[in-house]
Amino acid sequence: MLRKKVDQLTIQEKIGQLIQLTGNFFDTHNDSVVTGPQKKIGLSRSYQINNTGSILNTVDKQQIREMQRTHLLKSTHKIPLLFMADIIYGFKTIFPIPLAQTCSWNFPLIEESATVLAKECYEAGIHVTFAPMVDLVRDPRWGRVMEAPGEDTLLGECYAESMVNGIQGNGDAQHIPKGKLAACIKHFAAYGAAVAGREYNSVDMSESMLRNFFLPSYAKGIEAGAKLVMTAFNTLNGIPCTGNKWLNRDMLRDTLHFDGVLISDYAAIDELITHGYAENQTSAAKQALLAGVDIDMKTAVYANKLEKLVKQNQDLHALLDEAVLRVLMLKNDLGLFDDPYRGIQTEEDITNTILSKEHKETALKLAEESIVLLKNNNHTLPLSRNQKVALIGPYAEEKATLGFWAITGDEADTITLKDGLHALLDTSCLSVARGAYLLDKHTENLYDKYNDKLPVESEDEETLLEEAIAIAKTSDIIVLAVGENTYQSGEGGSRTNPVLPATQLRLINALSTLAKPIVLVVYGGRPLILTEVEEKVSAILYAWFPGTMNGLAVANLLTGKANPSAKLSMTFPRSVGQIPIYYNELRTGRPQLDEENTHRFASRYIDQSNLPLYPFGFGKSYTHFQYSDFRLNQEEMTKNEQIKVTLTVKNTGSYSGKEIVQLYICDKVASITRPVKLLKAFKKIDLKVGESQRIEFEIDNNMLKFYHPDGSFDSEHGDFDIFIGKDSAEHLFKRRIRLVSKHNT
Ligand code: GLC
Repeated sequence: MLRKKVDQLTIQEKIGQLIQLTGNFFDTHNDSVVTGPQKKIGLSRSYQINNTGSILNTVDKQQIREMQRTHLLKSTHKIPLLFMADIIYGFKTIFPIPLAQTCSWNFPLIEESATVLAKECYEAGIHVTFAPMVDLVRDPRWGRVMEAPGEDTLLGECYAESMVNGIQGNGDAQHIPKGKLAACIKHFAAYGAAVAGREYNSVDMSESMLRNFFLPSYAKGIEAGAKLVMTAFNTLNGIPCTGNKWLNRDMLRDTLHFDGVLISDYAAIDELITHGYAENQTSAAKQALLAGVDIDMKTAVYANKLEKLVKQNQDLHALLDEAVLRVLMLKNDLGLFDDPYRGIQTEEDITNTILSKEHKETALKLAEESIVLLKNNNHTLPLSRNQKVALIGPYAEEKATLGFWAITGDEADTITLKDGLHALLDTSCLSVARGAYLLDKHTENLYDKYNDKLPVESEDEETLLEEAIAIAKTSDIIVLAVGENTYQSGEGGSRTNPVLPATQLRLINALSTLAKPIVLVVYGGRPLILTEVEEKVSAILYAWFPGTMNGLAVANLLTGKANPSAKLSMTFPRSVGQIPIYYNELRTGRPQLDEENTHRFASRYIDQSNLPLYPFGFGKSYTHFQYSDFRLNQEEMTKNEQIKVTLTVKNTGSYSGKEIVQLYICDKVASITRPVKLLKAFKKIDLKVGESQRIEFEIDNNMLKFYHPDGSFDSEHGDFDIFIGKDSAEHLFKRRIRLVSKHNT
């Protein structure tokens, strides 16, 4: 039926299905579209706007309804428009940024957050969301680590699968049910490995590194049924991803069996010219079509150049028909041919759950489980009820805690930390002062079109500092809320030195001379380098950008109403010089055996430790978990057997709490060098005070496999070390197991 529909279309109508524009091209009250946006992107005057296939980032249901109605009225083919948007971690109920969410290691809860995201988008009439972003990241200089699942392949796979299931529904049905959207896996591929952490920079890596570390999260999202994939801006080994036939046809379609829609990133087809990979728009159009890109996001390349190309070349016309068919299949999977409005044609149709109590409760729970307790000397936390608290810092009353990609969130809905603490502490016990600017003076113009979104600092800095010191002196404890600004993070937010602003460091230094315990609450979209401040404070709670429920989640954790359980999904460096630094590094011939070893000829620095400030998998709790009684049912296995690992975890502290028990494996000898360790399993458990639980892990052959240079995915016989720990650095149990072809009788 759909192929017949394709055959009935003119070439212009076919090409139109591959064009994605923004809503301003459909402003029927504005006849300057042709001289305005159309001219701006160089779309030829002969292009028929009503042939367009999809719209980018129109998110208002009245506008969507009106645009669809007008389009169906005016278009000859009557094929409904697709509405796609960047709803990455929440539509109106904004969840923590993805890099924070994966610190929860609670993927059922992450899936629930994606279900909420989909429901709220569905009510607005959105059909596709450009989420989840699943780029593996190892470099906190890169601004987009905030929207990534972190440095670990397994967590990246869990995140991809949970998000696709939450957004699309995890049924096997081809059709996407009501209340759900189509998900888009991005950015294909390895965008997170940009050289020097500099935005849009080139990516160069072996196929072994690509297959074993960077591709699995995309593959898992595709396996979960994601309907779209988005190309990455970067080159991969010298070829721009958007024009990369090997990557998009051989790898994505043939090896990963993706049969959905491949959409370019914003203007990426035109950028093939800027990359120096295409000579002009004609060659860019041909390269992108040959590379399997179906939709041209927001450039004129396909619209202006494909017609002539396909008229001259039947093979290209066949590729065009293939691409159009995939777009129509996506529209059909969304049920648009039956109901172009997907249930929002009238206000009566819509059950309004946006920012509902239930949605906010889910957001609160995920925020509480995403915020990491990095330090808590002498049980500084939780706060006690009768303590006099001085809440100080530019984030004390800041509402911009949603993160860079919350483009539809309203900061007005956000709970500030002051609100949160006021809800839990006696007002007489809480005093508040800003203490310092959020950003250093004279840096307000670094953020381009976001400059006017920065906080306006009205007071004199000296006055702010004096006020802070004054309330600190009359308090028992200081809660110091600091951090980088939202626009120092996110796309285009690469930083050479990801530290706290100097104005905030000055505040921390001044307060640290008062001999009062300081609890540092840090906001940010990346692992900031805290080495300079770490020894000046008693406790550190890393809030990331926690979303709409910010202040309540942080206050619940500060007061012990909730017990921190999050564990880092990305390593915190001691210094910029260590970057990229990540736990699962490959082994070397001259390892630094231990910190005390100063032997020169080892893989080490002479001016800094190799160790991170905080390792992957690290996070503290208010309670204590004791690990004991570690057992293996056998110490060797064949490829079709498993080894059972069991241990007991007991809550020996005075708070109930959650613990994330982690299992790592090291392949001792293999035909390519393997990492010092790899996370292969984890369990998040909830234990009351005094409660114990027997944990079981099952090691199977799949956990021991890796991609070989010839593309095969298999394990190799030999020795493996297994580690059970609270994080990637602290091993409570270590044992050697063996993979054998057969048991010696
Ligand atoms: C942006 C981002 C991509 C986003 C797209 C549409 O530049 O790279 O993640 O989905 O453009 O806004």
